[in-house]
Amino acid sequence: LHIIHIAAEMAPVAKVGGLGDVVTGLGKALQRKGHLVEIVLPKYDCMQYECIRDLRALDVVVESYFDGRLFKNKVWVGIVEGLPVYFIEPHHPGNFFWRGKVYGEHDDFKRFSFFSRAALELLLQAGKKPDIIHCHDWQTSFVAPLYWDLYAPKGLNSARICFTCHNFEYQGSAPASDLTSCGLDVHQLNRPDRMQDNLAHDRVNPVKGAIVFSNIVTTVSPTYAQEVRTAEGGRGLHVTLNSHSKKFVGILNGIDTDAWNPATDTLLKVQYNANDLQGKAENKEALKKLLRLSSADVKQPLVGCITRLVPQKGVHLIRHAIYRTMELGGQFVLLGSSPVAHIQREFEDIANHFQNHEHARLLLKYDEALSHLIYAASDMFIIPSIFEPCGLTQMIAMRYGSIPIARKTGGLNDSVFDIDDNTIPTQFRNGFTFLTPDEQGLNGALDRALGHYVNNSQSWQQLVQKVMRIDLSWDSSALQYEELYEKSVARARAIAT
Ligand code: ADP
Ligand code: GLC
Repeated sequence: LHIIHIAAEMAPVAKVGGLGDVVTGLGKALQRKGHLVEIVLPKYDCMQYECIRDLRALDVVVESYFDGRLFKNKVWVGIVEGLPVYFIEPHHPGNFFWRGKVYGEHDDFKRFSFFSRAALELLLQAGKKPDIIHCHDWQTSFVAPLYWDLYAPKGLNSARICFTCHNFEYQGSAPASDLTSCGLDVHQLNRPDRMQDNLAHDRVNPVKGAIVFSNIVTTVSPTYAQEVRTAEGGRGLHVTLNSHSKKFVGILNGIDTDAWNPATDTLLKVQYNANDLQGKAENKEALKKLLRLSSADVKQPLVGCITRLVPQKGVHLIRHAIYRTMELGGQFVLLGSSPVAHIQREFEDIANHFQNHEHARLLLKYDEALSHLIYAASDMFIIPSIFEPCGLTQMIAMRYGSIPIARKTGGLNDSVFDIDDNTIPTQFRNGFTFLTPDEQGLNGALDRALGHYVNNSQSWQQLVQKVMRIDLSWDSSALQYEELYEKSVARARAIAT
């Protein structure tokens, strides 16, 4: 199949969170299966340009419509992690992708509806005939209505549209009139069965548009797919998801096991594998030295946490876990940053409080290299999310032998299984879980994890080896996407003949 992903993020060139990891990981897995996979991204000023091979500008200039006129787009092509990527650079006075960041601008709706249309225009003008156009999250969800309204009739009609929602908290809802800029017909679309926001009838909802207009709709874990179909979890979209339930499915993400591999990871002090854990201990020692934490007790457990500090991630529970870990004699390292000013300030205060402490360190920044060392150095890893569509950090932690302590929600519920839960076959049990999103709930799992580490070091070691050997790769998830794509393409062909 010819599969084209249109996305706002891709690791490592333009990564904010897990979406970037997924676009690259899924793309590579599908490419390994023999499909032709290409990616279309905006050309951001803040990209990691050193991660792009053979970057060059194409001779053609792609013209795309916006706000009543045509704008020129310079198109660049390069290779990222072995995948061909097109980067779109609009010549628009709004300098849409020249903002020093990927998201969080007041005009994100404009920036990404412009990009969605320019991406489709690129495919049309370059004569591409993809079987699948796969768009991700609200930023590129405009692709689905644009495709059926404007581009399928123009000749780009070979494709089936797949939409993956990585987080239903972000729906991109905006005043209905904003939709006209990218050339969509607001009168046609601002209707209850199309793009009208279910919670505010004078607004349009891009995620709803993608659910209605895509052939395949997915989210990133089976449990989250159930949760968002309820009034509580769907944030207004449960009704739409339920009426389109036949094409909606939850597929658990994998991780890129080449990029995340302790046996080859050059960002570590020492590489290691499940058969030889000495290297893991050396990384722990190296991290403690780097962060000026006490190394007096080699048996002292180290708890790690790497996250965006947003309410979704259970920030109050993360804060509690720092204190509780120390109360119980452990050490804690947090790497995270927050786009929310008051949360960032609150954690800065805690970071300052502990800046010379022997047992806790908070690093309030985004730091890819340091994240690798923390996964490798930590004995356990905490993810107390209030909700979590999939979550990748629990899987990366397992790959590095750090035992997850997670709240049973969304993708965490599909990937972390409590070692004391007798209802689950022993071979699947791999961590510590809790249900109630409060301090007592968290203590129930954290206390058991620390107790187990201190009192049963031999069985802890076996647990570490076991989780490191779990297959967390994209292989089986990519197979599920492949099946969905193929079924959808076959259905389209059957209708056409
Ligand atoms: P989300 O996408 O909701 O942020 P995920 O668990 O899916 O959560 O993915 C988070 C990704 O971002 C992981 O690869 C994690 O290692 C990375 N990450 C999060 N915060 C930081 C940080 N401060 N520094 C480095 N990497 C981070
Ligand atoms: C979103 C979700 C996260 C998921 C990631 C990749 O950022 O918050 O749970 O792992 O997308 O799908």
